Amino acid sequence: MQKFIKDLANHVGEEITIKGWLYNKRSSGPIAFLELRDGTGWIQAVAVKKDFSEELWTEMEKVGQESSVEVVGAVTKHPKKENVFELQIKDFKILQLAADYPIALKDHGPDFLLDNRHLWLRSRRQWAILRVRDAITTAINEFLHQEGFIRTDSPIFTPSACEGTTTLFPVPYFDEGTAYLSQSGQLYSEAAIMSVGRCYDFGPVFRAEKSKTKRHLTEFWMMDAEAAFVEHDENLKLQEGLVRYILRYCLKNCQEELLTLERNQEPLQKADAPFTRFTYDQAIEKLHELGSDIKYGEDLGNDDEGLLTKDSAVPVFIEKWPKSIKPFYMKRDAENSDRVLNDDLIATEGAGEIIGGSQREDDYELLLSRIQAEGLDVEDYKWYLDLRKYGSVPHSGFGIGLERMVRWVTGVEHIRECITFPRTIGRLKP
Ligand code: 4AD
Ligand code: MG
Repeated sequence: MQKFIKDLANHVGEEITIKGWLYNKRSSGPIAFLELRDGTGWIQAVAVKKDFSEELWTEMEKVGQESSVEVVGAVTKHPKKENVFELQIKDFKILQLAADYPIALKDHGPDFLLDNRHLWLRSRRQWAILRVRDAITTAINEFLHQEGFIRTDSPIFTPSACEGTTTLFPVPYFDEGTAYLSQSGQLYSEAAIMSVGRCYDFGPVFRAEKSKTKRHLTEFWMMDAEAAFVEHDENLKLQEGLVRYILRYCLKNCQEELLTLERNQEPLQKADAPFTRFTYDQAIEKLHELGSDIKYGEDLGNDDEGLLTKDSAVPVFIEKWPKSIKPFYMKRDAENSDRVLNDDLIATEGAGEIIGGSQREDDYELLLSRIQAEGLDVEDYKWYLDLRKYGSVPHSGFGIGLERMVRWVTGVEHIRECITFPRTIGRLKP
């Protein structure tokens, strides 16, 4: 009977079948140690020559790394290690013999690994990252449903910009002219909340970012949450609740993965505490104290974000930014019409911005004037303006970058390892 490696604790003493791949092989004369993986984990399988026919032993000797195999054997407890199991091989079948697997179990340069991303995914480290990514997705879905959000999703082909016109990817679209790949599903979620109250979308978004940094992809996954009758302060509470839920979920469910990645878990544990809150003005002041030469009205760079959070055990909200450097849809701050009711959430350990959110402008005239001031085509946003004509309500939302979150939780240096097939300014393949 086929069993999964993750379940072997329940099958000690039984004879079972593992279907998977050969990860590594060592042999010392009459004993061979085959390290097998089946997607759920890794196990050492032991073969003793005297128990095998000459033919089967020869077969086993020629099996190369990443050959697909079917192995029958008895599950035993590791002689020394607690909670580790081994397989005493009785029978062995090669499904497909792999020869000269290009990724040896040693160091390769990043370009080589990226060119072979389709194979690199099989390494232990990439396996762990993929699983943390899945855990974060699950945590997000769980938390949002607990908070009364339902998933509605947004289109990818869009006729206009959500996050500024400079990072749009155009696509020829039949007789309709040019479509643009979505930068964020937010505007559509704003329409959907007027039906269901609270909703979210979760999918790929696209930014023609020229930035060659360790935090930028041109295609990444974003979850945009949106809620009717939620204002700025409550919006921040939801974001903090979500991020802390994700951290707790991963610490609880991803121990094997985090150990594989040699992730120091203490900073993640400590980050699960009330977040710090600075206004943009306070942040600039603090940055000046810390020696930055950033000017009022400028966006924060990577270095500034790092400087601002370097001594903080918890993520930091920067709220109420100048409207001139933020998108048209953000609601003005009643106390200072030059500021908007928004926030960026900066994670700890130099992980940078993980969330962008805001209360949305809900007044028809003010929104119209912002669209015009940005030089956007009012015709494109007519439907969006309608939402302020028919039962407008205060509402807020935010977007979390999935791979940014994966990067922070895993402690992986470069965001390109946080998605199956990264797309960056210089990479479209494989
Ligand atoms: O701050 P952003 O641009 O916000 C929005 O798009 C809003 N419409 C979201 C909303 O209110 N519903 O992007 C949100 C998050 C960022 O905080 C960051 O985590 C991630 O998306 N992000 C990127 N991740 C990887 N590569 C890039 N090029 C990214 N750009 C943004
Ligand atoms: Mg942002």
